[in-house]
Amino acid sequence: MAKSHTVDFLNSGFVVKTAMAETFNNKLKAEVEQIRLLHTLYPEFMVPILHEGLAGGRQFYILEKKNSLPLSNIVFDEFRPLSERRKIVQNTLEKIKKAIEREIDQQIPTLDYMTSKLQEEWEGTSFAHALFEQPILLNGNRFNFTAKDIFEKALALAGNEKFLSVKKAHFNFHFGNVLYDEAQSLTNFIDPDFSVNGIDPVFGFSRFAFSFWHELATEAQDAVKIVPMPDSLMFVLAKQDYSNILSEIPEVGNIDGIMPFMDKSMRNRFYVLTTYCFLRSIRINGSKQKWKAPCCPTTAKPEEVLMLGMLNYLEGTNVKSKNCCA
Ligand SMILES: Nc1ncnc2c1ncn2[C@@H]1O[C@H](COP(=O)(O)OP(=O)(O)O)[C@@H](O)[C@H]1O
Ligand SMILES: [Mg+2]
Repeated sequence: MAKSHTVDFLNSGFVVKTAMAETFNNKLKAEVEQIRLLHTLYPEFMVPILHEGLAGGRQFYILEKKNSLPLSNIVFDEFRPLSERRKIVQNTLEKIKKAIEREIDQQIPTLDYMTSKLQEEWEGTSFAHALFEQPILLNGNRFNFTAKDIFEKALALAGNEKFLSVKKAHFNFHFGNVLYDEAQSLTNFIDPDFSVNGIDPVFGFSRFAFSFWHELATEAQDAVKIVPMPDSLMFVLAKQDYSNILSEIPEVGNIDGIMPFMDKSMRNRFYVLTTYCFLRSIRINGSKQKWKAPCCPTTAKPEEVLMLGMLNYLEGTNVKSKNCCA
């Protein structure tokens, strides 16, 4: 995907986000408005816009540079004890919970739109449908579900649930957009997503949940290997630390781990929105080439990593922290 903007860190202590070309001005301008709205909703968390405008015809905005690390740098820091990483994840999730509660409190009527949104993403990922029917193993454990089973389950749940349709929400608590200041134990948010405007605020939790797998699929190099077997596909995580994160930080590892941060009645909504989040990302970040089973061991493609993440997060048993082979 073409990069829509640059992010520059100035020595003077500011961060400048600038559109790459005029065609991206509206995207950045919408982000400015979204940040302003959210700053009125939770001023203690949202990093405010200090200044915005046009420079050489390109939209930009300026933020104060926080003395913080994005959560991605903390979660994937293999030199930190997992218990320390987990504490920080829990701390930031408390703040995300507060923010989403305020987004939900806007008293918006509930609607019935997720069935059609899920179906749209299913059609948009048709290049990977053969992959979605494969029986899958991760580190020697076999899943009882395929990705297609998850889609069908989510579709059935969507028909029985009502969803909020909200404009004033962040929708993008991806690890890169959650900043944590360790010295002061402070959490801040940046970079809301305007493109999913109108969806349920619980989608913000889904973005958090999918963040680990999105990083493996799009940022890390060779993070996941795929080994074809006669009747299934076996995945292997390249680093032991990835397996350790999934088992020792359950808030990141699986749906049950994050449930203490939301009302039990929200579980089905969260399941549907998280399925939607993974499928949407497979459409956007996937290779778009008709999927064929690899003939020999190889590095997994983004659509394969994201499919594995959806299975493991929503229907996985805990990944064993030791590399095991039954
Ligand atoms: N105000 C800030 N203070 C500290 N770091 C920041 C700030 N704004 C952005 N960053 C860093 O820059 C990264 C990219 O910024 P972001 O606005 O999320 O852009 P993108 O849309 O490319 O994800 C963030 O993940 C974070 O590491
Ligand atoms: Mg970001």
